[in-house]
Amino acid sequence: MIKIGLLGHGVVGTGVVDVISNKAQQLFEQTGETVEIKSILVRHDYDVDYKEKFVYDFADILADEEISIVVEAIGGTDPAYKYVKSALEAGKSVVTSNKELVAKHGFELMNIAEEKNINFIFEAAVGGAIPVIHGVRNCLKANKVNSIAGILNGTTNYILTKMIDEKQSFDVALKAAQELGYAEADPSADVDGIDTCRKICILADIVFGNHILPENVHTEGIRNVRIEDVDILKTVGGAIKLLGVAKRTEDDRLLIMTAPHVVFNQGILFAANDVFNAAQLETDNAGLMAFYGRGAGSLPTASAVVNDIVECICSEGTLYPAWGDEKPEAVADYKSVPMQFYVNVKDNAEKVKTVFENSDIVCTAEETAFITEKITENRLTEKLNGFTVNSVLRVL
Ligand code: HSE
Repeated sequence: MIKIGLLGHGVVGTGVVDVISNKAQQLFEQTGETVEIKSILVRHDYDVDYKEKFVYDFADILADEEISIVVEAIGGTDPAYKYVKSALEAGKSVVTSNKELVAKHGFELMNIAEEKNINFIFEAAVGGAIPVIHGVRNCLKANKVNSIAGILNGTTNYILTKMIDEKQSFDVALKAAQELGYAEADPSADVDGIDTCRKICILADIVFGNHILPENVHTEGIRNVRIEDVDILKTVGGAIKLLGVAKRTEDDRLLIMTAPHVVFNQGILFAANDVFNAAQLETDNAGLMAFYGRGAGSLPTASAVVNDIVECICSEGTLYPAWGDEKPEAVADYKSVPMQFYVNVKDNAEKVKTVFENSDIVCTAEETAFITEKITENRLTEKLNGFTVNSVLRVL
């Protein structure tokens, strides 16, 4: 019998209770063990038929020697960090869906798990149900990953889809995402790109091997996405998506950022709508590949958590070594890496063509919209001096 201590009873926590109960037989067949949630840490009571499992003090779970795995589904870092650290130090493996915790403290917590020969694993922290972390950890050992670009936040993808396809207002779409259990407690974490940033940092930590702190990563959200640009881009087969991007530069440093990007209609990043997430990887041997699926929601996220529980039960020690410590000098200044931009100005096309000779003009109505050749952002800013700029977006 494997006994679990579950921290939290929100969207993810209740999903974990459901999945463990509705997959009891399957879990037994996979692990040879009966998997039981022994205690659930809550702040107040809920009217459910397993109330007897509720505890109100983390110390009860920590001191319980029968509990060998702790599932953290509280979110945030306070008190999650303190609880997870003490659980690991007490020799209990920890499974979490908490991207903020992993992005900030993953290096330290993985090291504690390694010292204790147990696990700190977190598939559900990136991409909800999608096994993207397992994919990059387990299935690309014969590849070098050169870039990752991902739609990693279900809420913003849902909002953008509803605004674009159904002309819903931002507020109506956000409220629906909250009701569906997709949004963060503070939706600014979704809308301002903070959640995507945490997730691209975790993927980059794994793929590129060193801890990258979210506060060192340039991050923009979707508040300034203009419907005019959405409509113009539609006419040329483009869409605006909030992406986390991490790629090796020519001088073998790392370009990493979160921002709305223009993607064109070939490929998964264009096609992924609603709450779906997608991550596209460029690798040296396998070429282009993608992961796609539900990025948020109770049962999808819980299914990834429960898969991690099975891994913990079946492992004979630490499965995945910690990534390396921070290496800030390896991160490139995003403004000095050449890329293409979509630009929309109030000025006319003739003026645009005199300054941006090699650009593609995509709209010449009241506004002139164009796509630049590859150029650094520093140089673009210089060249746009004298223009009245409506918007600038990066092109993937
Ligand atoms: N708020 C997050 C999202 C939840 O919308 O993707 C899953 O991490």
